[in-house]
Amino acid sequence: MLFIMEEEIRKASSELIITTDDGSYGRKGFVTQVLEELLDTDKSIKRIWVIGPAIMMKVVCEITRPYLIKTIVNLHSIMVDGVGMCGSCRVTIGGETKFSCVNGPEFDGQLVDWIGFMNRLTCFQEQEQKSWEFYKLKEGGN
Ligand code: FES
Repeated sequence: MLFIMEEEIRKASSELIITTDDGSYGRKGFVTQVLEELLDTDKSIKRIWVIGPAIMMKVVCEITRPYLIKTIVNLHSIMVDGVGMCGSCRVTIGGETKFSCVNGPEFDGQLVDWIGFMNRLTCFQEQEQKSWEFYKLKEGGN
């Protein structure tokens, strides 16, 4: 397991709660469990930023929806040109096509078409696999 910038985040935060699936560090469980506990006990929470795996961001948005808390997500779409020309990073936000590279990457999580986003994350799987095989072959040859 790899943790990065824990001390920096601890210094910048009033509270840091770490969770791990197996409980080997911090609390055992998912971040979404802790979030539900916090939302039930702390009514001062007005905004949430969530960055991580698509499924986690989707679940966080489902949890925050009934609380009417603005939830900002970071859509890490696959980017090719990074200037809004290739379309590879397109996402659907509130029924409109947006590009993560120039319109985001932060968006209102309640407006994201999560199924579409997660499908887009796998659209270059074949090319990624070929690239990985090429990399391993090259590394093995060095
Ligand atoms: S990376 Fe090409 S449009 Fe965003």
